[in-house]
Amino acid sequence: MDSINLGFFAPCPRGLEAVLADELKDLGASDIEATAGGVTFTGTLALCYRVNLQSRIASRILLRITEASYRDEHDVYDAAKAVRWQDWFTPQQTIKVKVSAHHCPLKSLEFVTLRVKDAVCDRFQYARNTRPVVDTHAPDILIAVFLDGTTCTLYLDTSGDPLFKRGWRKSAGEAPIRENLAAGILRLAKWVPETVLFDPMCGSGTFVIEAALMARRVAPGIGRRFAFEKLLSFEARTLSDLRTELKAVEIPAKPGLIHAADRSPQALTSIRANLSIAGSVDAVTLHQGDVLDLLAPAESGLLVMNPPYGHRMGNPDTLQAFYPRFGDQLKQHYCGWTAHIFTADLKLPGLLRLAPSRRVPLFNGAIECRLFEFRMVAGSPRKPRPQDQPPRDH
Ligand SMILES: C[S@@+](CC[C@H](N)C(=O)[O-])C[C@H]1O[C@@H](n2cnc3c(N)ncnc32)[C@H](O)[C@@H]1O
Repeated sequence: MDSINLGFFAPCPRGLEAVLADELKDLGASDIEATAGGVTFTGTLALCYRVNLQSRIASRILLRITEASYRDEHDVYDAAKAVRWQDWFTPQQTIKVKVSAHHCPLKSLEFVTLRVKDAVCDRFQYARNTRPVVDTHAPDILIAVFLDGTTCTLYLDTSGDPLFKRGWRKSAGEAPIRENLAAGILRLAKWVPETVLFDPMCGSGTFVIEAALMARRVAPGIGRRFAFEKLLSFEARTLSDLRTELKAVEIPAKPGLIHAADRSPQALTSIRANLSIAGSVDAVTLHQGDVLDLLAPAESGLLVMNPPYGHRMGNPDTLQAFYPRFGDQLKQHYCGWTAHIFTADLKLPGLLRLAPSRRVPLFNGAIECRLFEFRMVAGSPRKPRPQDQPPRDH
């Protein structure tokens, strides 16, 4: 089984497809193609395990089982019934079918879900004379179906819990961003563990904890379980060899490299708890204070943050008053730094009165956001006035 080339799809937060494709290439995937919302690739079962353990950006890894053109629910049923599901799992295991669609002409996705479930159960009835039971809460086996206008694709989920659940987050804080979104932003920002990193609005610490794991070369999934362990194809030896290999490359934290601050004492409590679970207490220097009063922790480095924004938290008037002051702070105290600010507030550069050197469209769930990059050099370009140019994306 291990030498067979299999097809996969790795969904990710929208906007991170290109950096996920780069990451998958580094991990040894082939036939990589970034599409909207994820990346398709091929590889062996061993690669599937590796990507589940090592990808910092994918939300999950789906194994492509079949693909067929369809016009109605009967065609989808036939495609699902044609699969030898008994080669992948047993009828004693519980199943769940999850359908998602884009430009699908069918009226009811619930009906499609039911028909795929029927097809899988009918196939087991035919092959094993018994039917698997549905468990929508904690199934052993998740069958993911994707329908576009003409093609249905059936996948087996190999991850189980989404991959952004690394296991270190016990304390959520206020409006945390997802771990894989934070890791993707660090990759978009081209952060490398030789550059000083500072998140002055760290909340529960997502950016800096992900950075600490990267700096320590800890595989994000090293401590968790995966759905592929429940498939009949599971090779325990391949997984244990991989865990041993990944453990062997871990290195200790480099003190003074990563800094985090927040003005809220609860945020500091939260990040301390999370750092402790992530085994990264020594990797991050913590400060409590208002970002407007804090000085840069080094001569140069990369500042990354997601400030509160109107419709999730924070009072819009307070933020309007805060941003010009923060823009001044960046200009006066962060010469030599590059700031990456992730926000849903598309007017942020105008409010800061700074011209971004780059703006990358990204989605935080359904919310359209930007990652703005500001290069803080002496005499950084000031925006003339905020009422300003409409945002241009590139
Ligand atoms: C959107 S949350 C950051 C979430 C964080 N990235 C995470 O994943 O948990 C914004 C944080 O900014 C902090 N904050 C707001 N205004 C601040 C200020 N003026 N100085 C320092 N921290 C501030 C809040 O306490 C909050 O923890």
